[in-house]
Amino acid sequence: MTDQSKIPLPPEFGKSTGPSLIERASGSFDFRTLTRPVLPDLPPAPQPTIAPVAAPRPVAAAVVESPREEPSPAPAARPFAGPRHKIDRAHLREQCLIEPESAVTGTLEEFRIVKRQLLRTAAESADAVAKRILIASAHPGEGKTFCAVNLALSIAAEKDNEVLLVDADFAKPSVLSTLGLPGGKGLMDALADPALNVEDCVIGTDVAGLYVLPAGNATGSDTEYLASARTEDVLARLTANAPNRIVIFDSPPVLAASPAIVLANHVGQTVVVVRADMTGEAALRDAVGLLGACADIKLLLNGTRFSTTGRRFGTYYGYKE
Ligand SMILES: Nc1ncnc2c1ncn2[C@@H]1O[C@H](COP(=O)(O)OP(=O)(O)OP(=O)(O)O)[C@@H](O)[C@H]1O
Ligand SMILES: [Mg+2]
Repeated sequence: MTDQSKIPLPPEFGKSTGPSLIERASGSFDFRTLTRPVLPDLPPAPQPTIAPVAAPRPVAAAVVESPREEPSPAPAARPFAGPRHKIDRAHLREQCLIEPESAVTGTLEEFRIVKRQLLRTAAESADAVAKRILIASAHPGEGKTFCAVNLALSIAAEKDNEVLLVDADFAKPSVLSTLGLPGGKGLMDALADPALNVEDCVIGTDVAGLYVLPAGNATGSDTEYLASARTEDVLARLTANAPNRIVIFDSPPVLAASPAIVLANHVGQTVVVVRADMTGEAALRDAVGLLGACADIKLLLNGTRFSTTGRRFGTYYGYKE
Protein backbone atom coordinates (compact mmCIF):
# COMPACT_ATOMS: atom_id res chain seq x y z
CA MET A 1 0.00 0.00 0.00
CA THR A 2 1.59 3.21 -1.12
CA ASP A 3 1.82 6.15 1.23
CA GLN A 4 -0.90 8.30 -0.30
CA SER A 5 -0.59 11.59 1.39
CA LYS A 6 1.20 14.16 3.42
CA ILE A 7 -1.08 13.37 6.35
CA PRO A 8 1.05 13.96 9.46
CA LEU A 9 2.05 10.78 11.21
CA PRO A 10 0.77 10.26 14.74
CA PRO A 11 3.19 11.03 17.61
CA GLU A 12 3.82 7.33 18.28
CA PHE A 13 5.70 7.08 15.01
CA GLY A 14 8.78 8.86 16.25
CA LYS A 15 9.01 6.53 19.24
CA SER A 16 9.53 3.34 17.25
CA THR A 17 12.75 1.77 18.47
CA GLY A 18 12.74 -1.51 16.53
CA PRO A 19 14.79 -1.91 13.40
CA SER A 20 13.23 -0.76 10.15
CA LEU A 21 11.70 -3.71 8.37
CA ILE A 22 10.57 -4.38 4.87
CA GLU A 23 11.18 -1.32 2.80
CA ARG A 24 14.94 -1.23 3.27
CA ALA A 25 15.14 -4.99 3.24
CA SER A 26 13.04 -5.23 0.09
CA GLY A 27 14.07 -8.22 -1.90
CA SER A 28 16.05 -9.88 0.84
CA PHE A 29 13.50 -10.44 3.59
CA ASP A 30 11.34 -13.50 3.05
CA PHE A 31 9.19 -14.90 5.82
CA ARG A 32 8.91 -18.19 4.02
CA THR A 33 12.58 -18.86 4.48
CA LEU A 34 12.16 -18.57 8.22
CA THR A 35 9.21 -20.83 8.91
CA ARG A 36 6.68 -23.00 7.12
CA PRO A 37 4.42 -20.97 4.80
CA VAL A 38 0.66 -21.13 5.17
CA LEU A 39 0.16 -20.90 1.41
CA PRO A 40 2.99 -22.98 -0.09
CA ASP A 41 1.51 -22.87 -3.59
CA LEU A 42 2.12 -19.17 -4.04
CA PRO A 43 4.94 -18.30 -6.46
CA PRO A 44 8.26 -17.29 -4.93
CA ALA A 45 7.75 -13.60 -5.59
CA PRO A 46 5.25 -12.25 -3.05
CA GLN A 47 1.98 -10.93 -4.44
CA PRO A 48 1.66 -7.15 -4.48
CA THR A 49 1.35 -5.59 -1.05
CA ILE A 50 0.13 -8.75 0.61
CA ALA A 51 2.25 -11.75 1.36
CA PRO A 52 1.82 -15.11 3.06
CA VAL A 53 3.05 -15.36 6.60
CA ALA A 54 4.69 -18.29 8.22
CA ALA A 55 2.67 -20.63 10.38
CA PRO A 56 2.17 -18.80 13.63
CA ARG A 57 3.84 -19.93 16.83
CA PRO A 58 1.75 -21.64 19.48
CA VAL A 59 -0.06 -19.08 21.57
CA ALA A 60 -0.39 -18.95 25.33
CA ALA A 61 -3.21 -21.17 26.58
CA ALA A 62 -5.02 -18.15 27.96
CA VAL A 63 -5.76 -16.83 24.49
CA VAL A 64 -6.16 -19.86 22.24
CA GLU A 65 -9.32 -21.44 23.57
CA SER A 66 -11.56 -21.57 20.54
CA PRO A 67 -15.23 -20.90 21.12
CA ARG A 68 -15.91 -22.49 17.74
CA GLU A 69 -15.22 -26.00 18.99
CA GLU A 70 -18.93 -26.60 19.52
CA PRO A 71 -20.75 -24.72 16.75
CA SER A 72 -23.93 -23.00 17.78
CA PRO A 73 -27.15 -23.62 15.91
CA ALA A 74 -27.78 -21.10 13.14
CA PRO A 75 -29.30 -17.94 14.65
CA ALA A 76 -32.65 -16.65 13.58
CA ALA A 77 -31.88 -14.13 10.87
CA ARG A 78 -33.11 -10.56 10.98
CA PRO A 79 -32.42 -7.81 8.47
CA PHE A 80 -30.15 -4.98 9.56
CA ALA A 81 -32.44 -2.45 11.18
CA GLY A 82 -30.23 0.40 12.37
CA PRO A 83 -30.35 3.95 10.99
CA ARG A 84 -29.12 4.83 7.51
CA HIS A 85 -26.70 7.71 6.94
CA LYS A 86 -24.94 9.46 4.11
CA ILE A 87 -21.17 9.31 3.88
CA ASP A 88 -19.52 12.61 2.99
CA ARG A 89 -17.35 11.88 -0.07
CA ALA A 90 -15.21 14.98 0.51
CA HIS A 91 -14.41 13.71 4.02
CA LEU A 92 -13.21 10.44 2.50
CA ARG A 93 -11.12 12.29 -0.07
CA GLU A 94 -9.44 14.42 2.59
CA GLN A 95 -8.20 11.28 4.30
CA CYS A 96 -6.97 9.67 1.07
CA LEU A 97 -9.67 7.03 1.35
CA ILE A 98 -11.37 5.42 -1.63
CA GLU A 99 -14.15 7.59 -2.98
CA PRO A 100 -17.03 5.45 -4.21
CA GLU A 101 -18.18 5.92 -7.79
CA SER A 102 -15.19 8.12 -8.49
CA ALA A 103 -12.11 8.05 -10.74
CA VAL A 104 -9.61 5.23 -10.43
CA THR A 105 -6.76 6.11 -8.08
CA GLY A 106 -3.63 4.38 -6.92
CA THR A 107 -5.30 3.52 -3.61
CA LEU A 108 -8.30 2.03 -5.38
CA GLU A 109 -6.07 -0.11 -7.58
CA GLU A 110 -3.95 -1.33 -4.69
CA PHE A 111 -6.96 -2.31 -2.61
CA ARG A 112 -8.46 -4.05 -5.62
CA ILE A 113 -5.44 -6.35 -5.58
CA VAL A 114 -5.61 -6.90 -1.84
CA LYS A 115 -9.34 -7.59 -1.75
CA ARG A 116 -9.16 -10.05 -4.63
CA GLN A 117 -6.96 -12.39 -2.62
CA LEU A 118 -9.17 -12.12 0.44
CA LEU A 119 -12.37 -12.65 -1.54
CA ARG A 120 -10.89 -15.65 -3.30
CA THR A 121 -10.06 -17.28 0.01
CA ALA A 122 -13.53 -16.44 1.32
CA ALA A 123 -15.21 -17.92 -1.76
CA GLU A 124 -13.09 -21.07 -1.89
CA SER A 125 -13.45 -21.96 1.77
CA ALA A 126 -16.22 -24.28 2.83
CA ASP A 127 -16.16 -22.62 6.25
CA ALA A 128 -18.31 -19.48 6.39
CA VAL A 129 -15.91 -18.08 8.95
CA ALA A 130 -13.47 -17.34 6.09
CA LYS A 131 -15.76 -14.40 5.31
CA ARG A 132 -14.72 -12.80 8.58
CA ILE A 133 -11.49 -10.84 8.17
CA LEU A 134 -9.57 -9.29 11.04
CA ILE A 135 -7.36 -6.27 10.33
CA ALA A 136 -4.60 -6.13 12.92
CA SER A 137 -1.12 -4.75 13.51
CA ALA A 138 1.49 -4.79 16.21
CA HIS A 139 1.50 -1.13 17.19
CA PRO A 140 -0.73 1.96 16.99
CA GLY A 141 -0.65 4.11 13.88
CA GLU A 142 0.40 1.42 11.43
CA GLY A 143 -2.71 1.87 9.29
CA LYS A 144 -5.25 -0.69 10.51
CA THR A 145 -8.22 1.65 10.29
CA PHE A 146 -6.98 3.14 7.01
CA CYS A 147 -6.75 -0.34 5.51
CA ALA A 148 -9.97 -1.66 7.08
CA VAL A 149 -12.03 1.27 5.79
CA ASN A 150 -10.45 1.22 2.32
CA LEU A 151 -10.91 -2.52 2.10
CA ALA A 152 -14.58 -2.19 3.08
CA LEU A 153 -15.14 0.56 0.53
CA SER A 154 -13.44 -1.54 -2.11
CA ILE A 155 -15.45 -4.68 -1.33
CA ALA A 156 -18.69 -2.67 -1.28
CA ALA A 157 -18.06 -1.93 -4.96
CA GLU A 158 -18.13 -5.64 -5.77
CA LYS A 159 -21.08 -6.82 -7.83
CA ASP A 160 -21.44 -10.06 -5.90
CA ASN A 161 -20.55 -9.05 -2.35
CA GLU A 162 -21.62 -6.67 0.35
CA VAL A 163 -19.56 -5.74 3.37
CA LEU A 164 -20.05 -5.06 7.05
CA LEU A 165 -17.26 -3.04 8.66
CA VAL A 166 -17.11 -3.71 12.41
CA ASP A 167 -15.24 -1.38 14.76
CA ALA A 168 -13.67 -3.74 17.29
CA ASP A 169 -11.32 -1.11 18.73
CA PHE A 170 -13.53 -0.64 21.77
CA ALA A 171 -11.17 1.60 23.71
CA LYS A 172 -10.37 3.97 20.84
CA PRO A 173 -12.99 3.47 18.13
CA SER A 174 -12.33 5.50 15.00
CA VAL A 175 -14.31 3.91 12.17
CA LEU A 176 -17.32 6.20 12.66
CA SER A 177 -15.25 9.39 12.74
CA THR A 178 -13.22 8.21 9.75
CA LEU A 179 -16.40 7.71 7.75
CA GLY A 180 -18.07 10.79 9.22
CA LEU A 181 -20.92 8.77 10.74
CA PRO A 182 -22.73 9.61 14.00
CA GLY A 183 -22.31 7.41 17.08
CA GLY A 184 -24.68 4.71 18.19
CA LYS A 185 -24.94 1.41 19.97
CA GLY A 186 -22.64 -1.26 18.72
CA LEU A 187 -20.97 -4.61 19.11
CA MET A 188 -19.99 -4.26 22.76
CA ASP A 189 -23.52 -3.22 23.70
CA ALA A 190 -24.90 -6.29 21.94
CA LEU A 191 -22.37 -8.55 23.66
CA ALA A 192 -23.11 -7.08 27.08
CA ASP A 193 -26.90 -7.03 26.74
CA PRO A 194 -28.54 -10.27 25.55
CA ALA A 195 -31.80 -8.38 25.05
CA LEU A 196 -30.21 -6.17 22.38
CA ASN A 197 -30.27 -7.45 18.81
CA VAL A 198 -26.96 -6.73 17.10
CA GLU A 199 -28.79 -6.28 13.79
CA ASP A 200 -30.48 -3.20 15.22
CA CYS A 201 -27.07 -1.58 15.82
CA VAL A 202 -25.88 -1.90 12.22
CA ILE A 203 -25.77 1.41 10.35
CA GLY A 204 -26.72 1.43 6.69
CA THR A 205 -25.00 3.91 4.36
CA ASP A 206 -25.64 5.52 1.00
CA VAL A 207 -22.67 3.59 -0.35
CA ALA A 208 -24.32 0.57 -1.93
CA GLY A 209 -23.32 -2.62 -0.13
CA LEU A 210 -21.58 -0.90 2.82
CA TYR A 211 -22.80 -1.42 6.39
CA VAL A 212 -21.08 -0.37 9.60
CA LEU A 213 -21.31 -1.79 13.12
CA PRO A 214 -19.99 0.69 15.72
CA ALA A 215 -17.84 -0.47 18.61
CA GLY A 216 -20.50 0.53 21.13
CA ASN A 217 -19.88 1.54 24.72
CA ALA A 218 -16.72 0.22 26.32
CA THR A 219 -17.42 -1.69 29.52
CA GLY A 220 -14.19 -2.32 31.37
CA SER A 221 -14.77 -6.02 30.70
CA ASP A 222 -14.58 -5.78 26.92
CA THR A 223 -12.20 -8.69 26.49
CA GLU A 224 -14.22 -10.91 28.82
CA TYR A 225 -17.42 -10.19 26.89
CA LEU A 226 -15.58 -10.80 23.65
CA ALA A 227 -14.26 -14.12 24.95
CA SER A 228 -17.71 -15.25 26.12
CA ALA A 229 -19.75 -17.93 24.36
CA ARG A 230 -22.28 -15.29 23.28
CA THR A 231 -19.80 -13.70 20.89
CA GLU A 232 -19.99 -16.48 18.32
CA ASP A 233 -23.81 -16.28 18.36
CA VAL A 234 -23.72 -12.52 17.87
CA LEU A 235 -21.18 -12.74 15.04
CA ALA A 236 -23.12 -15.53 13.36
CA ARG A 237 -26.17 -13.27 13.26
CA LEU A 238 -24.17 -10.76 11.23
CA THR A 239 -23.90 -13.13 8.30
CA ALA A 240 -27.00 -15.27 8.78
CA ASN A 241 -28.83 -15.67 5.48
CA ALA A 242 -26.26 -13.44 3.76
CA PRO A 243 -23.70 -15.78 2.18
CA ASN A 244 -22.17 -12.96 0.12
CA ARG A 245 -21.53 -10.68 3.06
CA ILE A 246 -17.91 -10.10 4.08
CA VAL A 247 -17.29 -8.90 7.65
CA ILE A 248 -14.19 -6.81 8.32
CA PHE A 249 -13.03 -6.12 11.87
CA ASP A 250 -10.89 -3.08 12.64
CA SER A 251 -9.00 -3.76 15.85
CA PRO A 252 -6.63 -2.22 18.40
CA PRO A 253 -2.87 -2.89 18.30
CA VAL A 254 -2.07 -6.50 19.14
CA LEU A 255 0.85 -5.61 21.42
CA ALA A 256 -1.16 -3.04 23.36
CA ALA A 257 -4.63 -4.56 23.84
CA SER A 258 -6.22 -7.99 23.84
CA PRO A 259 -9.35 -7.77 21.61
CA ALA A 260 -7.57 -8.68 18.38
CA ILE A 261 -6.07 -11.77 20.02
CA VAL A 262 -9.50 -12.93 21.15
CA LEU A 263 -11.13 -12.04 17.82
CA ALA A 264 -8.56 -14.19 16.03
CA ASN A 265 -10.57 -17.15 17.38
CA HIS A 266 -13.61 -16.01 15.43
CA VAL A 267 -12.21 -15.07 12.01
CA GLY A 268 -11.04 -17.12 9.07
CA GLN A 269 -8.52 -14.61 7.75
CA THR A 270 -6.29 -12.07 9.44
CA VAL A 271 -4.46 -9.25 7.70
CA VAL A 272 -1.54 -7.92 9.70
CA VAL A 273 -0.65 -4.42 8.58
CA VAL A 274 3.09 -3.76 8.47
CA ARG A 275 4.05 -0.11 8.22
CA ALA A 276 7.10 0.43 6.08
CA ASP A 277 10.05 1.85 7.99
CA MET A 278 8.19 1.52 11.27
CA THR A 279 7.22 -2.04 12.15
CA GLY A 280 10.11 -4.01 13.61
CA GLU A 281 10.63 -7.70 12.91
CA ALA A 282 10.49 -8.74 16.57
CA ALA A 283 7.21 -6.87 17.10
CA LEU A 284 5.76 -8.39 13.94
CA ARG A 285 6.71 -11.91 14.99
CA ASP A 286 5.28 -11.33 18.45
CA ALA A 287 2.00 -10.02 17.01
CA VAL A 288 1.67 -12.89 14.51
CA GLY A 289 2.29 -15.38 17.30
CA LEU A 290 -0.40 -13.85 19.48
CA LEU A 291 -2.87 -14.03 16.60
CA GLY A 292 -2.13 -17.72 16.13
CA ALA A 293 -5.74 -18.80 16.75
CA CYS A 294 -6.38 -17.76 13.14
CA ALA A 295 -4.80 -20.23 10.74
CA ASP A 296 -4.69 -17.85 7.76
CA ILE A 297 -2.57 -14.77 8.44
CA LYS A 298 -1.46 -12.47 5.65
CA LEU A 299 0.79 -9.43 5.74
CA LEU A 300 -0.06 -6.12 4.15
CA LEU A 301 2.81 -3.70 3.63
CA ASN A 302 1.54 -0.16 4.16
CA GLY A 303 3.04 3.26 3.63
CA THR A 304 5.66 2.42 1.04
CA ARG A 305 7.31 5.36 -0.67
CA PHE A 306 9.10 3.60 -3.50
CA SER A 307 8.83 0.43 -5.53
CA THR A 308 11.84 -1.57 -6.56
CA THR A 309 9.90 -2.83 -9.59
CA GLY A 310 8.40 0.47 -10.70
CA ARG A 311 4.82 -0.23 -9.66
CA ARG A 312 2.62 2.84 -9.98
CA PHE A 313 -0.93 1.63 -9.64
CA GLY A 314 -3.62 4.03 -10.76
CA THR A 315 -1.41 5.73 -13.36
CA TYR A 316 -2.61 3.61 -16.27
CA TYR A 317 -6.23 4.79 -16.32
CA GLY A 318 -6.77 7.79 -18.51
CA TYR A 319 -3.57 7.01 -20.37
CA LYS A 320 -4.01 6.68 -24.13
CA GLU A 321 -1.40 6.43 -26.86
N1 LIG B 1 -0.99 4.37 3.07
C1 LIG B 1 -1.32 5.49 3.72
N2 LIG B 1 -1.32 6.67 3.05
C2 LIG B 1 -1.65 7.82 3.69
N3 LIG B 1 -1.99 7.91 4.98
C3 LIG B 1 -2.01 6.77 5.70
C4 LIG B 1 -1.68 5.52 5.11
N4 LIG B 1 -1.80 4.56 6.07
C5 LIG B 1 -2.18 5.20 7.19
N5 LIG B 1 -2.31 6.53 6.97
C6 LIG B 1 -2.67 7.55 7.95
O1 LIG B 1 -1.86 7.31 9.09
C7 LIG B 1 -2.59 7.61 10.28
C8 LIG B 1 -2.65 6.35 11.16
O2 LIG B 1 -3.41 5.36 10.48
P1 LIG B 1 -4.57 4.53 11.22
O3 LIG B 1 -5.41 5.41 12.10
O4 LIG B 1 -5.26 3.76 10.16
O5 LIG B 1 -3.67 3.60 12.12
P2 LIG B 1 -4.16 2.49 13.15
O6 LIG B 1 -3.25 1.34 13.01
O7 LIG B 1 -5.62 2.24 12.97
O8 LIG B 1 -3.88 3.24 14.53
P3 LIG B 1 -4.54 2.83 15.96
O9 LIG B 1 -3.88 1.56 16.40
O10 LIG B 1 -4.15 4.01 16.83
O11 LIG B 1 -6.01 2.69 15.78
C9 LIG B 1 -3.96 8.08 9.83
O12 LIG B 1 -3.94 9.48 9.77
C10 LIG B 1 -4.10 7.49 8.42
O13 LIG B 1 -4.95 8.25 7.61
MG1 LIG C 1 -7.24 2.33 14.23
